[in-house]
Amino acid sequence: MDDFLRRYGPVAVVTGASSGIGRSFATELAGRGLDVVLVARRLDRLKELAETLRAAHGVEVTVVSADLADAAAPGEILDAVAGLDVGLLVSNAGFGVKGPFEDGDSATLSSMLMVNCQAPTQLAHGLAPRLKRRGRGGVIFTSSVEGLIGCPYSAGYSATKAYVVALGEALWAEFAPSGVDVLTLCPGATDTEAPRNQGIDPATLHDLMSPDDVARAALDNLENGPTHIPSAHYRGLFDTLLAMPRGEALTAMARQTGK
Ligand SMILES: NC(=O)c1ccc[n+]([C@@H]2O[C@H](COP(=O)([O-])OP(=O)(O)OC[C@H]3O[C@@H](n4cnc5c(N)ncnc54)[C@H](OP(=O)(O)O)[C@@H]3O)[C@@H](O)[C@H]2O)c1
Repeated sequence: MDDFLRRYGPVAVVTGASSGIGRSFATELAGRGLDVVLVARRLDRLKELAETLRAAHGVEVTVVSADLADAAAPGEILDAVAGLDVGLLVSNAGFGVKGPFEDGDSATLSSMLMVNCQAPTQLAHGLAPRLKRRGRGGVIFTSSVEGLIGCPYSAGYSATKAYVVALGEALWAEFAPSGVDVLTLCPGATDTEAPRNQGIDPATLHDLMSPDDVARAALDNLENGPTHIPSAHYRGLFDTLLAMPRGEALTAMARQTGK
């Protein structure tokens, strides 16, 4: 644990910390002795988590309320952490919408591009010089297994997560010589508010993982990039899908998901 703190501390910035995987990241990081900066829109939740983490772990917690769909938000977050020695960025906030592509709301699609693509890019871009100068540290991008192949009936979300995979893979190789680890996390089904927000009953999902297990797996594998799929079930499934002729895999998925 001390090694982790020395390598990635003293301060971690976690986006999407108000619930699910991001909340678990923040909790696990505070447990490893890092000070944390919690970012999301729901300030009440962030304040409550901040109190809990301060009391349980004696760490410093900073709360930043930001709507990452707003183009100015990454700059405001970077300003808020300018005076802190940030060793780890966990760019985790994100959301998805399911259904036929043309049925989705156009404004929601734009917000999804901002939150899932623009914000991770700008946050990593803003922190990169500082991380590289320090000669140690890390970046975790939360993508999804849906970023590994175009997922029918989840086209926009899947495309945003493919962007994150490409960004994370490229930066893994770029930052490695500077001693900065980059991991792109590709969770499968995870028991958070996200499935319910997309009208999915989590009980119907295969191999549902807890957000705590997903966050812990990512932190334990931070030096083992470029990508990590925490679930053995989804690792096997995507190995099979990605080994199939692309058209066959996509047609099979469309048949399965479009029912
Ligand atoms: N759950 C799954 O099955 C699953 C699978 C693969 C990948 N993922 C990915 O895992 C990440 C975390 O999702 P989760 O499952 O933990 O879902 P979640 O519980 O719904 O958490 C999403 C987090 O993102 C934040 N967020 C969403 N829109 C935002 C905005 N406009 N501005 C700022 N923050 C925003 C939310 O905070 P506020 O609402 O308070 O702003 C919340 O903290 C996402 O990138 C998601 O795509 C999830």
